[in-house]
Amino acid sequence: MIQFEQTFRNFLLRHQEKYNRSYHFLILMYAIIAAAQRIELYYRTGALKDNLGVAGSINIHGENVLRMDQIAHEIVIHYLNSTERVIQAVSEETDDIIDMNRDGGRYFLYFDPLDGSSNVAHGLPVGFMFGIAKRNLDGNIQGPEDFHLRSGREYIATGMFVIPTGMFTLALREAGCWRFHADETNTYVKPSRMMLPEDSRKWELSYNAGNIYTFGEKIQKWININEKKYTFRYLGALAGDFHRLLLNGGMFMYPAIVNHPDPEKNRPQGKLRLMYEANVVAFMCTEAGGDAVDETGTPILDLPPEKHHQRTALYVGSKPLIDDIAKVLRK
Ligand code: AHG
Ligand code: MN
Ligand code: MN
Repeated sequence: MIQFEQTFRNFLLRHQEKYNRSYHFLILMYAIIAAAQRIELYYRTGALKDNLGVAGSINIHGENVLRMDQIAHEIVIHYLNSTERVIQAVSEETDDIIDMNRDGGRYFLYFDPLDGSSNVAHGLPVGFMFGIAKRNLDGNIQGPEDFHLRSGREYIATGMFVIPTGMFTLALREAGCWRFHADETNTYVKPSRMMLPEDSRKWELSYNAGNIYTFGEKIQKWININEKKYTFRYLGALAGDFHRLLLNGGMFMYPAIVNHPDPEKNRPQGKLRLMYEANVVAFMCTEAGGDAVDETGTPILDLPPEKHHQRTALYVGSKPLIDDIAKVLRK
């Protein structure tokens, strides 16, 4: 007997119907899926076609741009533009905010087209992560649009594809965090609701252990006391590490770097980007019953972005662990 699973399309149609949402979001989601599938195709054949190396330029964050970073960025821009629903987009790969359909668009998109650069040369899992916010619309009355960058609390959805595994996770505001799988026909199917497990025996800690002595004293002390209680896992790609965390629970952290032996390498603001990395996972984690804070113990979703490439320290995961670390950070 063939097993027919519920498709993503069916899931989303029912969601839109239940919450009385417009069809515009469907159009946007289908463009995002088309982009992810195309990125995945390029990634699978990346080594064969010589696409896993560097592009030869340095990006605005001072990092080496990879061929795959460029390819993934171009793909996402193409598909977003094709929807005519996007007002503006922020990509990790371009300095400026990208204007799309400023008059007719409805959504703001914040994305990291390829997350986990250090995995690329090896063909290991990477991510495509995105956050979506909406134009100021009040029913049919169109309010004045201020084009301000939205805080995570104002996002309507965030999602992430783990490439090339065929796994896709989408969180919809107040409607939960859902995981889908690509089937034999590359259709996303079988929604399962993600809720972080309460049983702490499965919990994992995830951070770059090589950086421990560069973290603030409070965090080093917390790690010292707590690390023995949990398994440690680190893939080096937020998308992959967070993907594990959603199923197993625990905490992923990328703390501020404040004690580096070479002070130039300190990152008091953290490494990850607020709008298209931290907010994406913080939003998903919150919908899955977890939480996320920055280095001051402030909820990530409450941070007002002052610039679109703003960085932040990130602590995300099971609520009891985040509450505990937040207490330490606020002291
Ligand atoms: P990107 O490849 O988009 O620049 O992001 C990499 C990020 C994130 O995915 C990961 O969690 C973190 O950098 C890893 O950093 P370290 O190599 O310093 O551990
Ligand atoms: Mn990234
Ligand atoms: Mn990236």
